[in-house]
Amino acid sequence: MTDTTTDRSVPDLRRLFGEAATLSPLASADRMGRRVEGIDLSGELSADQAELLIRLLDEHQIICVAGQDAHGLDVHGMERIANHFGAPLPHPRNYANYGSGEPLRLRPLEQRASTLNNEAFPGAIECLPGADSPAVYIVSNVPGGGPDAEPEIAGGQHWHTDIEFEHVPLSTSMFYVHHVPTRRDEAGGNWVVNPPREPGFYHPGASDELSERREMLPLNGETAYADTTAAYAALPADERARLDSTLVRRRFRRDEEGWLAPLVYVNPRTGTKSLHSPIWASRGKTVAPVVVDGLDEEASRAFLDRLEAHCLQPQFRYDHVHTPGDVTIWSNFSTLHVAPPVKRSINDPADARLMYRISCKGEPSLTLPRPDTDGWIEQHISPPYRSALA
Ligand SMILES: [Fe+2]
Repeated sequence: MTDTTTDRSVPDLRRLFGEAATLSPLASADRMGRRVEGIDLSGELSADQAELLIRLLDEHQIICVAGQDAHGLDVHGMERIANHFGAPLPHPRNYANYGSGEPLRLRPLEQRASTLNNEAFPGAIECLPGADSPAVYIVSNVPGGGPDAEPEIAGGQHWHTDIEFEHVPLSTSMFYVHHVPTRRDEAGGNWVVNPPREPGFYHPGASDELSERREMLPLNGETAYADTTAAYAALPADERARLDSTLVRRRFRRDEEGWLAPLVYVNPRTGTKSLHSPIWASRGKTVAPVVVDGLDEEASRAFLDRLEAHCLQPQFRYDHVHTPGDVTIWSNFSTLHVAPPVKRSINDPADARLMYRISCKGEPSLTLPRPDTDGWIEQHISPPYRSALA
């Protein structure tokens, strides 16, 4: 891959991380996404190193730091990195009784995601240290699998932005990639084919054009992203001006009042504008439609469906191929993403897709531990959580 030596961050990258560091486009130099190679994230980051990584994410929206398995990075180390980008959120599935109203209990050892992963193919697949952290969501098709399992296909998901409906929305998500599927179907050349959708998967009423773009899913364990900074910039000036003052009512469920939030996100460090989750709420069964302030539900759908169709055009889309050892970090304010259909109940480790995900919110912090106050944590991180940094 060609080194983008014209990028102004390359001299800083080499000064701070060593002369072996390279930066190259994930797709092409004029599009979002950069791959960083030749750096080691397994130790503590200096403030200057953290600032540079945050700058790279601000400028490129997705950064994939390759080869961290060779440096022995584990999931504790990943969580340390995450703390520079924001306050990590605990994942509800790590708790035995989330939503019960009782004091939260973490799942007992035998029910933990890491245990279920490790039981499927002993000796071949074993989660890395730190995978049991409450902040880690193990994205995996391994639990329930084994040599005698009967594989099936779980359909791909909706285009979305992670947790855009909270007062302080989620800012950053990251994957640390452990296993990727390597086996391909000889006839079609793909790992899986998306099964037909059940009725109600999407809210009804989308145009054929939008439906087609939504359903062009990544197929081989990849994650597809849409660039909502470039999509915003490509709109006519008068439309951008209108969108700049557009508010949308965010809410998770239809019976919630929700609150008004700007549709256009302005990055406080760069001034760059993007469309923050400009989708109507395609998740038909679970998520309440987004309503544009001043419009009724039907007009909101038409307004936002048009924007979503705009964002999902091929020139704004990037399908990311995961590689073991990658730490892939993306901005939730300036991208949409979609998960692929996956095999589950796999009977061969060659079909394993296993990644550790951490998501965070709030301001970046160049130094650790983060300076978040107890009050801020209490208000915005549910359940309240701080990383234990070794
Ligand atoms: Fe997501």
